[in-house]
Amino acid sequence: MIKEASFVISNSDYNKCPKPDKPEFAFIGRSNVGKSSLINMLTGRKKLAKTSGRPGKTQLINHFLIDETWYLVDLPGYGYAKTSKKNRAEWGKMIEGYIINRENLQLVFVLIDSRLDPQGIDLEFVNWLGQQGIPLALVFTKADKQSVNKTQSSTAKFRKTLLRDWAELPAWFITSATDGTGKEELTAYIEDITNK
Ligand code: GTP
Ligand code: MG
Repeated sequence: MIKEASFVISNSDYNKCPKPDKPEFAFIGRSNVGKSSLINMLTGRKKLAKTSGRPGKTQLINHFLIDETWYLVDLPGYGYAKTSKKNRAEWGKMIEGYIINRENLQLVFVLIDSRLDPQGIDLEFVNWLGQQGIPLALVFTKADKQSVNKTQSSTAKFRKTLLRDWAELPAWFITSATDGTGKEELTAYIEDITNK
């Protein structure tokens, strides 16, 4: 389990991120899906990453140092309808640059709202990561907002849809930032990779 977490730096340029000398894990997904909230849940620090009820809160690449041994990275969300074309293009450049070039990036967690039917934008993003050869895992968020059965069926739909394009499924987790569902599993998964 995570003992210590601290904010390090925010950037729009992967070149200015901390020295890539520790394993790193990034959270990405649609605006408002719960990336920042999940970082707070995993670290047990309610206000470590800034959250908001309104989409578009996180705007930069944010590095958090965990137990002095690895980095957790909070990224801005994609698919925010109200943003301008220019902003969207800039987001693309910033995130693609980061994901493709960040040499210590071990894996990207793609967060998906567990309540929704499979969304094109999420499938596209997962497929893009696959094409780039970037290791990824899926995190279905906000499980507290519905019954266990509903979470099972809607997330199964997503996995099934993904299997149209993928030979096998990536690792996947069900989480809630509100009640802590998935905290142990997700932390153990990361720590396993960092200990290798
Ligand atoms: P951007 O930074 O805008 O891309 O959003 P984000 O993905 O970081 O989302 P954020 O963590 O700011 O959460 C968005 C909203 O969803 C906030 O109102 C959170 O309180 C709420 N939220 C996040 N995770 C959960 C969850 O697991 N359960 C519930 N009930 N609400 C959640
Ligand atoms: Mg955020």
